[in-house]
Amino acid sequence: MNIYISFFLISICFILIFRNIYISNHINEINRTLQHIKDGNFNIRLRFYSSNKSIRNLGVNLNSIIDEFQCMAEKKEYLEESRKRMVSNISHDLRTPLTSILGYLEALHKDSKLNNKEKKYFLDVVYSKSQTLYSLLEEFFQISKIEAEDVLIKVEKINLTNMVQEALAGFYQEFTNENIQPIIEIPEKVFFVWGDSKAIDRILSNLLLNALRYGKEQKIIGIKMRDKNSMVWIDIWNGGTGINIKDIPYVFDRLYTAESSRNKKSHGSGLGLTIVKKLVERLKGEVLVKSIPNEKTTFSFSLPLYK
Ligand SMILES: Nc1ncnc2c1ncn2[C@@H]1O[C@H](COP(=O)(O)OP(=O)(O)OP(=O)(O)O)[C@@H](O)[C@H]1O
Ligand SMILES: [Mg+2]
Repeated sequence: MNIYISFFLISICFILIFRNIYISNHINEINRTLQHIKDGNFNIRLRFYSSNKSIRNLGVNLNSIIDEFQCMAEKKEYLEESRKRMVSNISHDLRTPLTSILGYLEALHKDSKLNNKEKKYFLDVVYSKSQTLYSLLEEFFQISKIEAEDVLIKVEKINLTNMVQEALAGFYQEFTNENIQPIIEIPEKVFFVWGDSKAIDRILSNLLLNALRYGKEQKIIGIKMRDKNSMVWIDIWNGGTGINIKDIPYVFDRLYTAESSRNKKSHGSGLGLTIVKKLVERLKGEVLVKSIPNEKTTFSFSLPLYK
């Protein structure tokens, strides 16, 4: 009988020893993984399967923490990259108006032969270039804030029909000055969406300003509202030279101005559509562009329908 009890106790001891080794192997592996995380290596994942539920859960939770760290590290790298690109774009873009301002100021400062008319002309140029510089900085600032997710977007129920009508009213004077009668297709039923009024206002005014700027020669501008698959779509379109098919993939890129408008006095800094795209994406919508040169260019964006 004693021999059986001894055998039983020895077996229990062996089982406990093996179990201890088994658990400490897993704990060692967890420690090695933690050391990798400490060294900044987020490509490692725990791959063992443990019959012990607590250790298994520890492994699963540790892997999801590494996933989060990896996401944060990638985002940090992306933001760092775009910050560097931004700084180089800003310095390049600010140099042109700044050089011209300095040139005119130097002339005003040193050239004693300038008459009053010339001085006034020079000051006017300096003033207008400074305004360009100011709006460029404002737009860069806006983009970097959106990219850093530093812009407070408060998603709430928005009466989009009202907002579109208000945006159109805001452009009434410009349309009248250009002798343009916009073609408005807004259904009678009122559309409510999930959105942020400041962001939507910015999207609408950037797109309407573009339609006016690039469509005023043909004097045809239109706006249409429609709903499709739980989204509300707004199409803002205009006539004019339009955008060449090879330019289409780049129109939302920062500082991009299409070939057809590059030499025109009217084109801007190429930041308006970048802001539009970033804001629409933050609101979980989509932006599309379609252009048939010399016929019709349409920018469409969608926002989630409030049901
Ligand atoms: N409605 C449009 N019709 C034709 N071309 C357009 C239209 N909207 C944009 N584009 C082209 O896309 C380019 C980029 O537009 P975007 O609004 O980003 O910049 P921008 O108008 O040049 O400057 P800003 O930063 O002042 O808006 C424009 O320069 C123009 O060439
Ligand atoms: Mg624009």
